[in-house]
Amino acid sequence: MQARDRLIVAADLSSRDEILALADEMHGVAGVLKIGPQAFVANGPGLIREVVARNVRVFLDLKLHDIPNTVAHTVAEVSKLGVAMLTVHASGGPAMMRVAAQSGGGPPRSVLILGVTVLTSLDDDELRRVGFARDSLSTAVSLAKLAQESGLRGVVASPLEIRAIREACGDALTIIAPGVRPAGSDQGDQRRTMTPRDAIAAGADYIVVGRPITEKKNRRDAAVRIIEEFA
Ligand code: C5P
Repeated sequence: MQARDRLIVAADLSSRDEILALADEMHGVAGVLKIGPQAFVANGPGLIREVVARNVRVFLDLKLHDIPNTVAHTVAEVSKLGVAMLTVHASGGPAMMRVAAQSGGGPPRSVLILGVTVLTSLDDDELRRVGFARDSLSTAVSLAKLAQESGLRGVVASPLEIRAIREACGDALTIIAPGVRPAGSDQGDQRRTMTPRDAIAAGADYIVVGRPITEKKNRRDAAVRIIEEFA
């Protein structure tokens, strides 16, 4: 994998035109464009088809969490769109993850299903109030192990949890880390961040960066600088 393939740019925007403009600017610079519920609800699956038609790899970050039957049918529909990656919540359980892994289609158009471990916005106190007995680090590691045992080939985790997950799950598991901030840039609402270089050094296969790129005047330059930082 080339360095630029490791950069996932979060297109947290509503406007179809702005998202397509970002896709065009990132073409040949960043490997993947992440499209979440905001853009998906605002524009529908037609937008995904338009981005895919531009030969941009799409990470559809819908974070599904439902009964296995519903997730299986949803994943099957997503796989028809030609996206490269899709998220489900690992806390949806092993049966849900197993059917998600089985419904992502086969090569050459198989979807990499990723299990979201612990949301980076949850602190240990909130995690306990939700019903998890342990802290975010051990919860993330056990959810990553569960995701792997349930047939998922990748997880999403805070950069601070990458090293422990890598040790527990080995090299075959794909780890994607959001909450990444280039040195000296605005944290925004992210609390537990790491620089791109540190996240990759800790064992992340991909990093997700949104606002430090999308809010810049020259977004292409901002993306190139981030890639240079960890390459
Ligand atoms: O703008 P910023 O770089 O903070 O964007 C990070 C992206 O990663 C957002 O799209 C956010 O929804 C997503 N994300 C996250 N933390 C998670 C999972 C996803 O920040 N645990």
